Amino acid sequence: MNNPLDGIFESLGRTVLVTGTDTDVGKTYATAALAVAGWFAGRRRIAVYKPQQTGIRGDDPGDVHDVARLVRAAGVPSEALTTAEGQRLTEPMAPPPAAAIDGVELLSISTHVAKIVELQESHDLVLVEGSGGVLVELDGERHTIADLAAAVQSGLPAEGDTDTTVRTVLVARPDLGTLNHTLLSLEALLHRGVRVAGVVLGSWPGDPDRLQVSNREYLADLPTIHGQRIPLLGAVPQGWGHESR
Ligand SMILES: Nc1ncnc2c1ncn2[C@@H]1O[C@H](COP(=O)(O)OP(=O)(O)OP(=O)(O)O)[C@@H](O)[C@H]1O
Ligand SMILES: [Mg+2]
Repeated sequence: MNNPLDGIFESLGRTVLVTGTDTDVGKTYATAALAVAGWFAGRRRIAVYKPQQTGIRGDDPGDVHDVARLVRAAGVPSEALTTAEGQRLTEPMAPPPAAAIDGVELLSISTHVAKIVELQESHDLVLVEGSGGVLVELDGERHTIADLAAAVQSGLPAEGDTDTTVRTVLVARPDLGTLNHTLLSLEALLHRGVRVAGVVLGSWPGDPDRLQVSNREYLADLPTIHGQRIPLLGAVPQGWGHESR
């Protein structure tokens, strides 16, 4: 199986937060492709953490299990990957209402930060997949993935040794509406001081139409936002992870 995000680890550090312009944009696929790219870039101990896994009953497989399956299908040995979830919630809703329905308290942002720091100590790549989009609340105190990214960033050296830096990747669709959603999400992330490595298209069709090609071209040459030019890092081909089965 090919490695769609080959080479992108030059711009990524030890911890990568994966958020999206929406739910269902391909964050889980992009997280798996990042893990595979990390493996082929020499990262040998890779962790995938999902702070809030919603819409799951009992022991059903969650996003981290999908990542594990996709990563294995790409030829990465299963021992290389650690999967971890913060909390499971039954309803396919944002964490606060889902927790209310389950009658549980949401884990705090500091609990997630502690888990990520623990994973950083024993892994050379930690991938964190958020819930839904950029401003979805993760806890009971209105903190979002942007706050989690900022908190993880503040606990680690800002620049210098790329091995210890934290970067966020925004996963987007190639379809109608994506330009507005991508620009809004980047504005929100950069406004909050989140260090964004770039945009990844979660599912790029084998036979893209004119609109999708035009959107991809635009995303590859985004206007400056908060003084930064955010690059398009790559695209996960539609059907990636299924081709060898
Ligand atoms: N590259 C791809 N190839 C094939 N199918 C894909 C790809 N990317 C996404 N999909 C399809 O789109 C669905 C949503 O993708 P994915 O689960 O990665 O989105 P998500 O952003 O992680 O969603 P959530 O917000 O629920 O975590 C998947 O179930 C899968 O069927
Ligand atoms: Mg997902």
